[in-house]
Amino acid sequence: MKPAERSAANSPISSERLDELIAGLSIEEKAGLMAGIDAWHAGGAPSIGLEPTVTLDGPNGVRGMTFPAGSTATCTPCGTALGATWDVDLVTEVAARIGLEAKRAGVHYMLGPVLNLVRSPLGGRDFEAYGEDPVLAAVLGAAYIEGMQSAGVAATPKHYVANESEMHRTTVDCRVDERTLREVYLTPFEAAVNAGAWSMMAAYNRVNGIHCSNHGPLVAGILKGEWAWDGVLMSDWEATHNTVAASVAGLDLEMPGPPRFFGPALAEAVRRGDVSEAVLDDHARRLLLLAARVGALAVAGEGVARPTAAEKLDPAQPWHLSDPDAAALVRRAAAESFVLLTNDGTLPLLPAVIRKLAVIGPNAAQPCAQGGGAAHIPAPPTVTPLDGLRAALPGVEIIHEPGCRIDRFLPPLTAMEVRDMDGKPGLTVEFWRGQEPAGQPYAGWHVDSSEMHLFADLPQGLVQDDFSVRLSGWVTPAESGPHEIALRGFGGRRLKVDGVPAADLWNAPPATDVPTALFEGRQDGGTFELQAGKPVLIEAELHSAVNAACLLAIGCRSPQQADRLEQAVAAAASADAVIVVVGNDEAWESEGRDRSTVTLPGRQNELVERVAATNPRTIVVVNAGCPMDLPWADRVAAVLYAWLPGQEFGNALADVLLGKSEPGGRLPFTIAARESDYPALSTTPGEQEQLVYAEGVNLGYRHFDAAGIEPRFCFGHGLGYARIEFESLEVAADGLPEGDSAQLKVRLRNVGSRAGKQVVQVYVADLESSVPRPPRELKGFAAVHLAPGESTDVFLALEDRDLAYWDGDGGGWRIEPGRFEIQVGASSRDIRLRAALDLE
Ligand code: BGC
Repeated sequence: MKPAERSAANSPISSERLDELIAGLSIEEKAGLMAGIDAWHAGGAPSIGLEPTVTLDGPNGVRGMTFPAGSTATCTPCGTALGATWDVDLVTEVAARIGLEAKRAGVHYMLGPVLNLVRSPLGGRDFEAYGEDPVLAAVLGAAYIEGMQSAGVAATPKHYVANESEMHRTTVDCRVDERTLREVYLTPFEAAVNAGAWSMMAAYNRVNGIHCSNHGPLVAGILKGEWAWDGVLMSDWEATHNTVAASVAGLDLEMPGPPRFFGPALAEAVRRGDVSEAVLDDHARRLLLLAARVGALAVAGEGVARPTAAEKLDPAQPWHLSDPDAAALVRRAAAESFVLLTNDGTLPLLPAVIRKLAVIGPNAAQPCAQGGGAAHIPAPPTVTPLDGLRAALPGVEIIHEPGCRIDRFLPPLTAMEVRDMDGKPGLTVEFWRGQEPAGQPYAGWHVDSSEMHLFADLPQGLVQDDFSVRLSGWVTPAESGPHEIALRGFGGRRLKVDGVPAADLWNAPPATDVPTALFEGRQDGGTFELQAGKPVLIEAELHSAVNAACLLAIGCRSPQQADRLEQAVAAAASADAVIVVVGNDEAWESEGRDRSTVTLPGRQNELVERVAATNPRTIVVVNAGCPMDLPWADRVAAVLYAWLPGQEFGNALADVLLGKSEPGGRLPFTIAARESDYPALSTTPGEQEQLVYAEGVNLGYRHFDAAGIEPRFCFGHGLGYARIEFESLEVAADGLPEGDSAQLKVRLRNVGSRAGKQVVQVYVADLESSVPRPPRELKGFAAVHLAPGESTDVFLALEDRDLAYWDGDGGGWRIEPGRFEIQVGASSRDIRLRAALDLE
């Protein structure tokens, strides 16, 4: 479909009506539409009945920032898990469910999906992406957008563009050559445009010297010019840097509010003549179109069918958006994402031969269901692996030992027995006007968490740049001994333990880079001798001098939280089989921080090795959303990569381990044998803040193929329990490259006795290229489910673009004549069928 047709088909409001509305708005009203008014609302226009619109994170559920305390929403598998399903219909279904919940919560813009790629295994937000391949991300991203928008909520693919790591994220200058941008990093965003995304978010970083929020060539040039996209481009939070350049480059919305560069400042720039009114009108047109699309702007009399909004919830009541249908969907999606990396036949486990099962590992009872940062949502309690296995194996004795600890920061205070000032489990938070927490508090309430991000949810009447706050609780230690206690935060802050200062940074200057400081790992405190059963008062205070978010988090490690390797090994030795659940926690997989190594945190590798040495039936489950090193992989019975799978983790895990469900996932990234084998590892910018994407188009498996490096597990790999074979491939390519597509017919047959899944992966190799090209590139895929004995034909099409490369010397997309090979297989290194394609 041509862009204009796509836009018309995707518009519930006519162009004339938009013109009319814009003509009726003043310059100030139009500029007001373009600025946030607070953390999660973008400006409205009362004169035309447009209320402020609501934006919320995303992408693995509806985040709670503006929810009343105690509200929850469905927590779905993370991005890499969805990537591992390779299943377009399933991703659409998951996104439609999140969209439905967002609609019920009154949200207009959901901030996702993440269309950046897994470039370095150290990237803090790898878990939010769909993997390392641009086509996988493009196709699944489009599916997510369609699902979300089918609920009448705008998807906001993010972060445009080259935002693959978190280190110095607001200042880093990602140096990416044009061909690499086009063939790799822009591809998913181009697909998002073709899928009709209503909104998009510009990244924090710079690309080739210019910040993405005022990047004329990438925004006005490619996104809105060449691709003719008609949606709203919003800034990432606090990432608008100026008025004129950003507006002229094509940024439509400054988030969050209150306005700094858009709103009144933009109106003035228009009145001064620095920004033309035509530019302003273009922004306003996009914002009004989006408001009409999400049902926030009346399109009276136009009779355009929009998705029916589900019944809205009462904003005064806590909302529980999840339900059994959503839980069932999350459970199925998680099982479809789990990647069985190795299996010596121990899986599926036969309950009949197991009387005693040891469930070991730090993540068995305290799993990581979702990552940290903006993606983190308040969710119903996670079904842990331990819970799930206990429920599925009622007749089996199940024993548990965590083995070792993995926390990046001290565990939250709430991991111990803590009570608020009224004696209720939890803590008390109190607020004061001004910079000193003295006298009668202005407001206060009870909280369940010892970590607070103070931004959108200040008590009414307090202003962000002039309040102080105290978080306090009575902790009763379970045992006597040294306890580490610390405060995480930034700006003026202090911590007291039983009235004694443990950290005093009351006069520290405010942070200059808040989006980064919010996630920084600095902890200040000390070690205290505490006595079992004797309550201790812990108080953390901060004052806010600037108009920006604040962090206040208290952590404590008791002696009890030490490693217990010996106990874990003894438990493993006494059992018929062992499930070891290793992985990360949400401080390791988080926005705002990259990791420094691919090694599992703590003594987890040692734990796996020792358990495996004592019990040959050791199955390792990896609870991580990013590539981790698995040095023991060939010394254990089976390895299952389980991602950050959402609220139904334990149930889905039991389904797969016991063979009720097929492990449906295939790796969306490569897992290297050695850290140094990755094409891009360090995410630390060099001189002038530059992070050079030196691997060019050869990221991920393309590098391993080009350099002839054997990975530990290749891209696309994953075993099933079923036996589904590739029988034949037929290619009809008449008409390529004159605009027609090549038609592929792949015949599959389930030759085993179990129902199962196969992912057909189509790679293209340009055998006679005049420029170096990756040895093979993924260009299509399909997830296929077959009953025992069933066979099917899978039809896939290759378009011109699937054969082309980007010719930077002004040639644009270019297809060279010569021989191509179409490779169809079960992974990037398990090619089962090949066909030659000769282009004249
Ligand atoms: C993140 C975005 C997120 C926004 C709002 C930023 O820090 O980079 O992904 O949508 O915050 O929470």
